[in-house]
This record gives sequence, C-alpha cells and structure tokens, in this order.
Amino acid sequence: IYGPNRRNSRGVNLNIRSQYQPLMDAMAKHMDTRYDARPLLAFDVATDPALMHEVTSPYDRRQVVGSVLWTSKEQAQKALDAAWAAFPRWEATPVSERAAILRRFADLMETHLAELMALCSREGGKLLTDGVDEIREAVDFCRYYASRAEELFAEPTRLPGPTGETNDLMMGGKGVFAAISPWNFPVAIFCGQVVATAVAGNTVLAKPAEQTSIVAHRVVELLHEAGMPRDVVQLLPGDGPTVGSVLTSDPRVTGVVFTGGTDTAQVINRALASRENAALPTLVAETGGMNAMIVDSTALPEQVVADVIHSAFQSAGQRCSALRVLYLQDDVADRVIEILEGAMAELHVGDPRDLGTDVGPVIDEDARRGLQAHIERLKGEGRLLAETTLDPAHTAEGTFIAPTAFQIDGIEALEREQFGPVLHIVRYQARDLDRVIESINGRGYGLTFGVHSRNESFADEIAKKMRVGNVYINRNIIGAVVGVQPFGGQGLSGTGPKAGGPHYLLRFATEKTVTVNT
Ligand code: SER
Repeated sequence: IYGPNRRNSRGVNLNIRSQYQPLMDAMAKHMDTRYDARPLLAFDVATDPALMHEVTSPYDRRQVVGSVLWTSKEQAQKALDAAWAAFPRWEATPVSERAAILRRFADLMETHLAELMALCSREGGKLLTDGVDEIREAVDFCRYYASRAEELFAEPTRLPGPTGETNDLMMGGKGVFAAISPWNFPVAIFCGQVVATAVAGNTVLAKPAEQTSIVAHRVVELLHEAGMPRDVVQLLPGDGPTVGSVLTSDPRVTGVVFTGGTDTAQVINRALASRENAALPTLVAETGGMNAMIVDSTALPEQVVADVIHSAFQSAGQRCSALRVLYLQDDVADRVIEILEGAMAELHVGDPRDLGTDVGPVIDEDARRGLQAHIERLKGEGRLLAETTLDPAHTAEGTFIAPTAFQIDGIEALEREQFGPVLHIVRYQARDLDRVIESINGRGYGLTFGVHSRNESFADEIAKKMRVGNVYINRNIIGAVVGVQPFGGQGLSGTGPKAGGPHYLLRFATEKTVTVNT
C-alpha cells in the first residue's frame, strides 16, 4: 500500500476536450432533476410534511435542487437500536468481504461521476475542477482503507512468547459510530468517515451536513447498491439539535468521527463525556485552522502569488486547509502584494458550472453574512489591500463573496477562523521571525502551514518548529492526496489520526490479546 503499486484515482482532465465534453454532456442530464432525499435507515420511513426541507443552489437561490426529509428523534433512536443489533454480525463478517464492498462502491462512484459532480455543484456550489477532485478523493478513501483494513485486520498478529504458549493480537470493531460530516467536502469527507469506520468492523450512523444532504443521500444509495447492509450504514439527515443530540447522548454510541468547527467538536466532546454508564468514548475530530504561510526575502514572488491564490481562494476559501494569514518579509512584501493585486483583479467569480469560473459561491446566506461583516469591519479600519470585483450579472442571485486581502498586525488579531475567500497579510522583519513562529504556534490551531523560501535550511528549520499537521514547502497548502499526504491537525485543529494515512483505521478498532497455554 505504500509502494509503487498503489494507485490513486485518475479522475478526468478538464483541459482535454475529449474528456471534458462527454462529462459535461453526462452532467447536463442531472442538472434539472428534482431530488427527494430521505433518511436511509434499516426500516422504512413515512413522509412527514413538517420535516420536509427544500434545498436551493448557492449560486442561484431560485433554483431548487430538491427536498430532504429530516430524521425525527424517534427514528434516530430506532436506527441506533438497529445499528446496535447489527454490530456483532458485521464485526464477524470477514474483512475481505467488507473491503470488497468498499471497492465496488468506489467503482460505482466512478460510474456515477457526472451525477455526483452535478449534485456537488448544484447543492454545494462546487466548481467543476473541485467536483472532479472531490469524487477522486472519495474513491481513493474507499480503495485505500479497503487495502489497509485487509493488511491490519485480516489475520491476528502472532507475538513471541515462552515455549508452550501462543499469543495472538486480534483486531475487532468498537461498536456503533456516529459519523458527523461537513458540507465543504460532501462526498469525500462523508465517504472517508463512513467507509473507514465500517470497514474496521463498526456499524455507522451517518449524519451529513444539513446543507448537503441530497448528495449524501445519493452516495448512500450507491453504497447500499454496492452491498453495504442497510443496518450497517444508515443515513440520518437532519439538524444537530435533533439527530446530533441522540447520537452523542446515548451510551451505546462507542465513538464519534467528526469534521467541522472546533466549537462543535468541543460540544460533542462534552456531551460524550457527560454520559452515565457509557464506555469511554472515542472522538476523532478534524476541525478548523488558522493556517499561515511564511514568505522570506529569497522566495520567488510570482510563484508565491500563484500558490497564495490557490491556497486562499480555491473552493472560495472553504477548505479547512485554506490559507488565512500570509506573513511576508518586509523586503518582498510590496512586490508580492503588487502581483497579488493584479492576479486578484483577474479572478472570475460566478457560476461554478462554468469552466471559466475561478471562485464559486459560499455555502449559504449565514456564511455570506458573517464573512461580509468581517470584510466591512476590516475595510472600516482602512486595512484593504486588494479586492476582486463582483459582476452582478453572474452573482446577483447567489451567496457570493468577493475575494479580498487585508493587512493586519498579526494572527492574534483574528478572533475566529473566517471560512471563506478572505486573506490576511502581515509584514514582518527578518529579526522578528522567532516571534512570528511563536505567535502562529501560540494561536493554538495546527492544521496546515506553508513556507516559501529558496533557502532550504531556513524552510526546514521553520517546518520543524511549527506545531501543525501538514507542512508544505514552496507550493500551495491545500489538496492533500489520500495515501500521499495524510491529512489532519493538532491542538484546536483536531485529535488525529490522519485521514488518508496508514494509522487512521486503528482508532476505530479494538485490540484483544489471546494467550493459549499449549
Ligand atoms: N483535505 C482537504 C485539503 O487538503 C481539507 O480541507 O485541502
């Protein structure tokens, strides 16, 4: 799995017309379909008009994607009963069978690439390039975890012992897991959580983000079609207070795998800890970041700007890995800002279905309002350095934010993560570098970090000092690849282990040592 024989999904190259056009034609068939999503549980669910929610597109709120039936509290409890009952049978299912389901599921997602991309775009506002990457990542998670599960769990590990005794280390599942996933990677992170917990021998209750329940519904339909039993992976669309609270308060839930805001992870952690008579829970949380990049005077300004644009504004800045604070050494700052200003003026903000669009919408009106308030506040303080112009012809009906760059005094000036296309720039003097490193580390987050420098020992030295999960030197800081750049942070950014890394599945497994006196 580490070697040259491991392959990541190839995806589609949108720059090649013979690949692009068939994909566009296939996507077109799914652009007007009206979807009806509902809980996918071990039992059938009746429609209740009071729990129906309409979903519209972030790029044009007049366009309806479909409707979602949310899960009631009672249904969530019954789903939990079914997951609890299914656990022993599923845990006893050979790992090879569990892995085979993941591989079939990966193949099915590739076959349904156009439909899943159409939904990522219509429901999540994803650009076409981001959609291709999203499905590739989901497919990679399935194949990587399938192989890793076979390596880790298929056979017990025979351990040395005195003569007349055998010692075997056996791996099993932990029980029922709740998988609570975010809207920014509605297929990739959703699938990563679900297939990892399931292939390790657990039953799973998956709660997708409210904003992206329809694509999650389609994905779980495909997972069931691939052979995943309906009581092993169940889908519970709904809101946090209703579904999330059942999942985090019942003592039968052995663990939670969560990706989202740091505040929510803390709420989940407290809820799990306060349960009475519950086993000590497992919490695997991937949370926010206040990701920085340090650029010294030896860096190449053009390359810096290309990587900054990519890191700060791709996916409209809605990646937990995205660049939030750029530290520029004073000697290069003016030059980098000048090129950045030019590059930002060229960005095209608009409809994510158009290949010429660089920046799509943010997810919803709440997100837009929060980001806009932050932007207005910094503008009011006279801190604006550069801004992309929005063309109302392309943005009037959706929730768009113009990419902006501001000058601030330091990372500590930011109270919270701004999850959108807003870049903050700090100028520093070479003599203050240690203080800069201390303040980035001191902020408490530790997800991604970048350094741009042609001085190798300078870059290596900084990389060593940063308390983060992913360091990128002389490149952009987003788009970790499964099995290549295991992804996840530390401190306020998450618990580990790293998604798409060799140790991820172990956190979802129990170990049992069996000693036999022979
Ligand atoms: N895995 C994603 C990335 O690296 C996380 O947001 O960009």
